[in-house]
Amino acid sequence: MVLPYKHEPFTDFNDDQNRADYQDALKYVTSELGKDYPLVIGGKKIYTDDKLVSVNPAKKEQVIGNASMASTSYVEKAMDTAENAFGEWKTWTAEERAEVLFKAAAIARRRKHEISAWMSVEANKPWGQADADTAEGIDFMEYYARQMLRLGEGREINDRPGENNTFFYQPLGPGVVIPPWNFAFAIVCGTTVGPIVAGNPVLMKPSENTPVIAYKLVEILEEAGLPQGVLNFLPGHPEDIGDYLVDHKDTHFINFTGSRGTGTRIYERASVVQEGQTHLKRVVAEMGGKDTIIVDNDADLDLAAKSIVDSAFGFQGQKCSACSRAIIHEDVYDNVLDKAVEKAKFITVGNPGEENIYMGAVVNQKQFDKIKHYIDIGKREGDLIFGGETDDSQGYFIYPTIIKDLDPESRVMQEEIFGPVVGFAKAKDFDELLDTANNTEYALTGAVISNNRAHLNRARHEFEVGNLYFNRGCTGSIVGYQPFGGFKMSGTDAKAGGPDYLLNFLAPKTISESW
Ligand code: NAD
Ligand code: ALA
Repeated sequence: MVLPYKHEPFTDFNDDQNRADYQDALKYVTSELGKDYPLVIGGKKIYTDDKLVSVNPAKKEQVIGNASMASTSYVEKAMDTAENAFGEWKTWTAEERAEVLFKAAAIARRRKHEISAWMSVEANKPWGQADADTAEGIDFMEYYARQMLRLGEGREINDRPGENNTFFYQPLGPGVVIPPWNFAFAIVCGTTVGPIVAGNPVLMKPSENTPVIAYKLVEILEEAGLPQGVLNFLPGHPEDIGDYLVDHKDTHFINFTGSRGTGTRIYERASVVQEGQTHLKRVVAEMGGKDTIIVDNDADLDLAAKSIVDSAFGFQGQKCSACSRAIIHEDVYDNVLDKAVEKAKFITVGNPGEENIYMGAVVNQKQFDKIKHYIDIGKREGDLIFGGETDDSQGYFIYPTIIKDLDPESRVMQEEIFGPVVGFAKAKDFDELLDTANNTEYALTGAVISNNRAHLNRARHEFEVGNLYFNRGCTGSIVGYQPFGGFKMSGTDAKAGGPDYLLNFLAPKTISESW
């Protein structure tokens, strides 16, 4: 008997014992730093000479681990292995495959603080954010296992006299999973276990920024009894193996989450039918955002400021869902801005590998340089009213930054920055609030802070985003409660953590027998 799905509770870090337990986990993880990690192909651990060196973004000198890198010949080997594994994995029943995920979720729950602590050092996730990331990974396993049980029964269709009809789902075949680094456990986990529980072997290429955490998922699934060859782990530079994985004739699907640039490249390449390819590739491409909170003139202004600050600066603004634009009704613009600045003053910045702070460092030098550049642009396009400081002497620190009086068409208001920078702009009425919210090519998340029911009703239909929130921030979707994904140039809107997600990795089949 499978209990109904419920999301994993978050840890309360106001509790002394929970903080002490997390410190212990950080101590343990610190004692494990600097190790070598293998590729995993068909269950075999292969250590290569070429290594990706993963470092703590807050302490550049601290090596988190050295991940073996795969070359294209290892991709070939992994694809052969996955093809072989498919023969057996597809014969496991939905229940048998779901059991592996239920067990993996139990293992991850037991290792919860340890997994989160790895994220605090390798991705610089503050404790609460890391804890939520691990909880989301556990949720994906629990939720997709239950979804597969439901889909495993097929769907009801109609019979006619003398005719029996059935409709069920079968897996596609081996596919490629390419996740980002910013939900270093949750998204890596969800994008991997979704296709797997549907019956498809996977070649997973983790982000070059967070290969060690990704390896922890491999360990967990192995311990849970996933058969060898169903998950093959291939860290590497995207320029060495990215195209090769996508182009491979035996790749049946690509499950990608990341930037618009990479997603559109993958989408285009996957459409080309390669020599010897006998199927069309499915592509899930979940991409970036330029997410907006709009504030109406009758809104709760404290709630508005809190929602903007939390959504803009949580995990250093490095979420596809982060609020990077606040569009405020002119009647309350100055008031909301002042309140947001006051709140931002209390944000603490440091190394979450050592202490429970609000913000850590941004992920790497490239992101640091990019965000700094956008702050400079913002100073020209608008008025820097708070923050703007940066420091990359020890780690990649960018302090929370607010830029006001921006033109909605300005670069800071149009381009994804992916850092702790939020732009403010004014609108004269609700029409203009909505028009401005919709004036980007992205359509991922958004929020409306308003007490006007008619305005909320309009926004429901006219605010063009995949995830729309009323009277709260625009981050923090929960698996099974707020299925997540965007449209327009935010991607294919696969709705991770939603009831239709697994259909991306399944082929429906109809059988009709005359009696
Ligand atoms: P990225 O596009 O740089 O990398 C994502 C993944 O693609 C990584 O594993 C990377 O190694 C790989 N990759 C890069 N070039 C490749 C190529 N040519 N072929 C194959 N693989 C390649 O993105 P990122 O910096 O890791 O992540 C941040 C981006 O992800 C932001 O734009 C953010 O908005 C987006 N994101 C979107 C969602 C969502 O659900 N929509 C969730 C999280 C992050
Ligand atoms: N699911 C993540 C959020 O909503 C991206 O913030």
